Amino acid sequence: MKVGFGNDHASVDMKMEVMEYVKELGYEVVNYGTDEKASCDYPVYGEKVANAVVAGEVDCGILICGTGIGISLAANKVKGIRAAVCSEPYSAKLSKQHNNSNILAFGSRVIGPELAKMIVKTWLEAEFEGGRHQRRVDMIMAIENKR
Ligand code: RB5
Repeated sequence: MKVGFGNDHASVDMKMEVMEYVKELGYEVVNYGTDEKASCDYPVYGEKVANAVVAGEVDCGILICGTGIGISLAANKVKGIRAAVCSEPYSAKLSKQHNNSNILAFGSRVIGPELAKMIVKTWLEAEFEGGRHQRRVDMIMAIENKR
């Protein structure tokens, strides 16, 4: 399974550490940047990873900015994306089991690297449960075609 990573200047160190960890877990990783700490615009990286997910270049994405909010808002504008901002493992697990999230986001200024790794492992290992949740996910996705 291939995991795409994206981040802004606030999250370079966190991205590097979590990306190494995901590699150690046995996943393939693709780094969509940035690796620079010079101020940049998080929507660029949110959109890059979101496009890679919908194009099937990667199976899922992990996005990190200061809060996880801006970069996930950008990703959620791409048709087909369900990006969930999670600061603890319970929400991360449920975002996959019930909402079939295809991007996980979190904030490097909100949580530390060890909690981030726990959240990431939980999310990667969780599976969508389908059933009644499929209907609700379909309803969310149908909103994209309403206007
Ligand atoms: C950058 O300063 C900061 O605004 C960004 O990392 C993020 O928190 C936005 O949502």
